[in-house]
Order: sequence, then C-alpha cells, then structure tokens
Amino acid sequence: MKHGHFFLIFLVIPCILFFSCIKKTPETKGIILGFSQIGAESAWRNRNTRSIHEAAAAAGIKLLFFNAEQKQENQIKAIRSFIAYQVDVIAFVPIVSYGWENVLEEARDANIPVLICDREIDIYNERLYAGYLGTNMLKQGQSSAEYLLKKYTDPETGEILVDADNPVRIIELSGTVGSSPETLRAQGFREVLSEYPGFEIIYSESGDFLRSKGYELMCHILEEFQDIDVIYSHNDSMTLGAIDAMKERGINPGRDIIIISIDAEQAAIDALIRGEINCLVECNPNQGPEIMRLVDSLANKDNIPRIIYMVEEVFTEWDDLSTLPTRGY
Ligand code: AHR
Repeated sequence: MKHGHFFLIFLVIPCILFFSCIKKTPETKGIILGFSQIGAESAWRNRNTRSIHEAAAAAGIKLLFFNAEQKQENQIKAIRSFIAYQVDVIAFVPIVSYGWENVLEEARDANIPVLICDREIDIYNERLYAGYLGTNMLKQGQSSAEYLLKKYTDPETGEILVDADNPVRIIELSGTVGSSPETLRAQGFREVLSEYPGFEIIYSESGDFLRSKGYELMCHILEEFQDIDVIYSHNDSMTLGAIDAMKERGINPGRDIIIISIDAEQAAIDALIRGEINCLVECNPNQGPEIMRLVDSLANKDNIPRIIYMVEEVFTEWDDLSTLPTRGY
C-alpha cells in the first residue's frame, strides 16, 4: 500500500468520522445552566427534578444543579454562585413568590438571563427575568371549584343543589405559605365559588405540600370538626396523608367526604380508581424538555415568551377509569 493511501485510510478518514460524530453529540453544545431546585418534598417534585436532569443530558446542556432543601436563603446562595461561575443561563423554582429583587438585579448586572420555572414570583420589575415556564395554578384552583359545582348540580335541571342556610362545608389543605401554588390555587378556587353562597370554607391550613403534614393536619381536623363535606387539597402528597388519617378512623374518603386533589401522580390516580379521590387536577412536572428549549434560546440571545404553561388535564370519578394515564412517579 502506498504511503498516501495508508495515511488516508488509517488517519484522515477516522479523524473526519470522529469529529463529525462529536459535532452531532449533544455534549458539544457548550451551554452551562445553573438550576436551583427547591427540594424533594413530594413525588411530583422528584419527577420534576428527574425531568430536568434527563432533558439537560438529552439536549447536551451542562447542568449545575443545586437542591435548596426548602430554604430560600439556600436558593439565593446557589444563584449567587451561578453568577460567580458565569453560567450562560440561570433557572430556578422559587420556593416563595417574594424576596428575589436583589439577587435578580445581580444576575441582570452580570448579563445572565434568568428563567423562572414551575412557581411564579411577585416582583416590581418583571424585566428582571426573561420568562416563566410552569403550570397554570390559578386555573388549577378554578378547575377544582368547577368540579365541585358540577358535583352539586342536578343533572336533570342543571340547578346547583346547595342551600346557603346549610352550606357545603369545605376544608382546605394548602401548600407552602407564600408560594405561588398556595396563593393561586386558593384564589382560583375562591373566585369560582364566591358566586355561590352555599359553599363555605370552614378551615384552611398549610400542610407544606408534605404527606406527613397532611396526615397530622387531618388527625387534628377530624377531632375539631364533626361535619365535613369536602377536602380541597393543594397537592397529592397531603391528600394521601389525609386519606390515611381518615381510613384509620373508619371514614371512607371519596364517599363520606368528597376529595379534590391537585397533581395527579400515580398513587392518586390509583386512589381515584378505588373511589377514594373524586377529582384530580393535573399539575404537569415534565417541564425539563421545554426548559432546555428556552435555555437554548436564551443562551443564543433570542427572546422567549413571557409565560408558557404546560398542557394539563382534569380527571374525575365520571371519567372512563380504564383510560386514565399511568405515571412513572
Ligand atoms: O409547585 C408545584 C407543587 O409543588 C406541586 O403541586 C407539589 O406537589 C409540589 O411539591
């Protein structure tokens, strides 16, 4: 074999193939994303975290991931470390909606775009972040109330069968105080029911989105209140804890008390099928792919929409239960 052919076959061609492969692998994108997650309070949150890791790997985006263990100060520290590291994009799930001005001004001064994920923030200058990707929590509250109205509607006449003198007694298990799901799910629910004097929220307390607190709260509530018609719970973890407490006391969830819950994780879908939950309003945790798409745009200095909501459904006891989706969480 001539020297020229040897060179071509064993050195040049393999090199061309090697570099063309590298070009196509996602690892070469060169974008660094700093992501601050709030913790691991629920199965929903764990799925959300997995979705972000999987999508970053698939998109070839280098992910610096920090778990804040439910503390805002840890999130602020993580964001400051991303700024010091000069990442291309910062994304975070704000545990509460207030108190982000200073750190976002620091990110702006460092020219690093910020994407808000899952939970919304209240801020005087909305230009301090590039956009929001998450779920429509106000709508989740409204959908929960709309189910309840339908539950009390006479199918023949369309009349809502409630009596203001003998109102439907509702208990609300709410999420982490000051978080956007807590405020907006409460607001949406109340907005719809405020038109109907026959519905009364007799007690509302935060269970911090935790199953253990849902259980503890329900134990206390069942001692305190005799007649409960409805439990409206801001997430499945608290609902499942509350269901445990009810069953221990011989109460049939879904039959003796109407249960409305938000998230639609697998254990809650199973409970809906067993008749222990009446309505599940989906909150979609699979946000990773959309987050990475937006991160890619931001790293390339493109504008992104101010708000993007995930696609979500409502599942009720009236659905064909054999067609409910199965979840990996
Ligand atoms: O922010 C989304 C909420 O947080 C989910 O409903 C809940 O399960 C989670 O912990």
